[in-house]
Amino acid sequence: MPLQLPMNAQATDPASLERHFGGGEGLLPLWIAEPYLDLAPAVVAALQERADIGWYGYEVRPESAIGEFWKWTSIRHDWTGAGLATIVSPSVGTSIGVLIDQLTEPGDGVILQPPVFTDFKSLITAAKRTVVRNPLELTDDGYRMNLDDLAKKAADPTTRALILCSPHNPVGRVWTVEELEAVVAICARHDVFVIADEIHGDLTLPPATFVPFAEVAKGTGVSWAALHGPIKTFGLAGVCDTLVVTDDDRVAKLFETRSSQLHLTRNNVFGIAAFEAAYRSGASWLDDMLELVQANQALLDAELPDGIEVAHLEGTYLAWLDFRSLRMDARELASWLAESARLGLSPGHWFGREGAGFARMTIAAPPEQIEDAIARLQNAVATLKR
Ligand SMILES: Cc1ncc(COP(=O)(O)O)c(C=O)c1O
Repeated sequence: MPLQLPMNAQATDPASLERHFGGGEGLLPLWIAEPYLDLAPAVVAALQERADIGWYGYEVRPESAIGEFWKWTSIRHDWTGAGLATIVSPSVGTSIGVLIDQLTEPGDGVILQPPVFTDFKSLITAAKRTVVRNPLELTDDGYRMNLDDLAKKAADPTTRALILCSPHNPVGRVWTVEELEAVVAICARHDVFVIADEIHGDLTLPPATFVPFAEVAKGTGVSWAALHGPIKTFGLAGVCDTLVVTDDDRVAKLFETRSSQLHLTRNNVFGIAAFEAAYRSGASWLDDMLELVQANQALLDAELPDGIEVAHLEGTYLAWLDFRSLRMDARELASWLAESARLGLSPGHWFGREGAGFARMTIAAPPEQIEDAIARLQNAVATLKR
């Protein structure tokens, strides 16, 4: 890869590649959702400066960090966050785990909208809650929520929460105001708590616009918390904290109490430095990356071989490729991608059974790498036809 990843980066870790793709030799790995690019110079500089200090003890998180986040959201999403509680959490997964733990009981149902980010299911089952499936529908116009089914599932009194992936990983939808209003109405009516995972919100591609759940929820009575942070946007999942935002003091208090009980608030000196630098100085780097993602998506649109389609991408840097017309089952497709194309993509069935026949490719990468991936697919498809 042009970007030199450390040996133990998950994307290139030999044991992970062996397990998922039968080995890393000659494989082009584009499976983990993070940018394979030189990261924002301001962030790298802030980390280098922090390292140079040569002291890495207990630190107090500056108030300014949260302020930088809200300045960022008001500029980029016209969302000031007035009146909302903002709580620091080590990761999105941690936040979802704590919210499920605090707001639902063992056995309660938590709704998912598959095909969807893999961790959600394991967070629900690990907490001994029940996964309630509300699959997305694939229409001629792309993926849509099945709102009738959502209303039916939400009406079950044992259903207590919905994990809303907004924007949606892996299908790349950015939900519209109307779609979010429909979710709000259903969840308010049936008292279903909405965990809005908005970690990809900054990765919305024009002309789509990101609508924060908070803005649609205002004054409706729906209970919710939204999850944010710089980790996906700036490639900082190994360093940075994330945020939980809510308008509900009770939820904020429950979250803070549990965090404090488990010492989840422990600081990381590098995380603090990178978090502020990203939001203060990362805008132009992000704009460049979003342009690159759109250019890479256009490459896929134009050059994928017959038999492979790419879903229209409204947000995230994750292309969702449709291989169904090659008529392979989920396992065959996964082995064909790994062995014949030598491509490390996330097979669609990892995201739920609705993902069978699809695969996810990270396209926040140099165009030469996307060209290489396309050439591998062209060759593999040509071999099939022989
Ligand atoms: C929608 C979504 N939520 C959460 C995460 C993971 O966040 P964390 O590593 O902070 O748990 C990812 C990672 O790809 C993601 O795509």
